[in-house]
Amino acid sequence: MNKVKWLDNAVFYEIYPQSFKDTNSDGIGDFNGIIEKLDYIKSLGCTAIWMNPCFDSPFLDAGYDVRDYYLAAPRYGTNDDLKRLFGEVHRRGMHILLDLVPGHTSWEHKWFRESCKAAKNRYTDRYIWTDNTWEAPEGMNALIGISERVGACGVNFFSHQPALNYGYYKPDPDKPWQQSTESEGAKATLEEMKNVMRFWLGMGCDGFRVDMAHSLVKRDENGKGTIKLWQDVRAFLDREFPDAAMVSEWGEPDKSLQGGFHMDFLLHFGPSHYNDLFRCDKPFFGGSGDASAFVEKYLESRRKAGKDGLICIPSGNHDMARLAKYIRGERLKMCFMFLLTMPGAPFIYYGDEIGMRYVEDIPSVEGGYERTGSRSPMQWDSTVNAGFSAAPSDRLYIPIDPAEDRPTVAAQEKDSGSLMSEVKRLMSLRAAHSALQSRGEIEFVYAEKDSCPLVYTRSDKKEKLLVILNPSDKKADFAFDGKLGEAVYLLGEKASQSAGRITSAPCSAGVYTIGNL
Ligand code: NOJ
Repeated sequence: MNKVKWLDNAVFYEIYPQSFKDTNSDGIGDFNGIIEKLDYIKSLGCTAIWMNPCFDSPFLDAGYDVRDYYLAAPRYGTNDDLKRLFGEVHRRGMHILLDLVPGHTSWEHKWFRESCKAAKNRYTDRYIWTDNTWEAPEGMNALIGISERVGACGVNFFSHQPALNYGYYKPDPDKPWQQSTESEGAKATLEEMKNVMRFWLGMGCDGFRVDMAHSLVKRDENGKGTIKLWQDVRAFLDREFPDAAMVSEWGEPDKSLQGGFHMDFLLHFGPSHYNDLFRCDKPFFGGSGDASAFVEKYLESRRKAGKDGLICIPSGNHDMARLAKYIRGERLKMCFMFLLTMPGAPFIYYGDEIGMRYVEDIPSVEGGYERTGSRSPMQWDSTVNAGFSAAPSDRLYIPIDPAEDRPTVAAQEKDSGSLMSEVKRLMSLRAAHSALQSRGEIEFVYAEKDSCPLVYTRSDKKEKLLVILNPSDKKADFAFDGKLGEAVYLLGEKASQSAGRITSAPCSAGVYTIGNL
């Protein structure tokens, strides 16, 4: 696999553009607002950005319903503004990924409008259509009764997101409407998606986070057809944009990395047990949960991903409850110690660095439903609308967290004991130790069922470090046959060693050097 060098020590910041910073007082974030806050993102220690979809859209799914892949959504700015954003990111030595949504479009996309017509045209085969209005494609929901054309059109997610046609891995011979991946229609869709990538990479973006990357080829149980499709995309990138970074929303690194992606996320869905750590009744970092199933799956994924593949663990994202919903206080700091000492590039969801809360009971906005509570405006300071926007409060895209004690960047900047200050220190720790970065080795020393602490080593040619995380409120020990060295970083009390065992204090964590006995 072609390696993109800057990923080796990258830490990403995810920006949901709607909610980050509004500079024209219309109540919604914009590109200029992001430009204004790039120095803040850099000051945290982040080196790269993933920005959620920012293309023209009716916004029935917050922009994951693209109406024109080649046009920036006017509410955020123009294509030129976006190009300027790329330039400003680069001027600061950072990188930026756009969000590519290749699986479906909005039902308002002109391709879809054309494909609904009875008369054959160049978009007839752009989407997955059956030849019978009453028959949905198997395993999919469908749009029916909305077209002149006879047939049902498969949808990938919400009903307004018709599925683009990349073909079927093994078309059913009894269903002639199932086209192969080599059919003209399927190939034309893929070529058009390459054009989209070409367009934005040519403008200066550094790669893509790919939405539902696993979902493109249908009837593809083991992902073989979809893997092949992405290998073809990677070959195109290697020819024309070899430095383009690709991160998949797939959740199965063994598959996505074979497809040529550099990194895959561990997510709240799929087999990873990611939720066991942060988001369940008893999350491990809440103090009484279990990390062992996560570790087992993590090691399996790493084995399958091979030595070059990266697996990234996000603090959260726009689809799941905020980290601070289940975990509070000092334990939130421990989550960041974990995230920032694991291999692969960490992703920090905007606002998680100050412990922004999940806002309960707010009405759904733009197809957010329960996700809306994790998408509220960034809390910059204590001025009007928490410094997000000068618009009247009732015109904000999503209301600000109404809690009077909501965390803000301005307050946490002044407080060396704040979560944000801790995150910055942990970022410096990671930046100073290559063993802790994307490609350093990891070995788990202690990760037992229903037990604390979680212990692992990180190493490279230069050094080997021991990470001990004990979120429980009891002291916890484990056998260790090396010598606990100096504490390079501590949260709470330092661990102690005697008779071949290391004991960590309740609710404490640390990164240590390892000496010889
Ligand atoms: C995953 C995205 O993260 C989510 O926000 C979106 O609704 C679906 N894909 C559909 O595109």
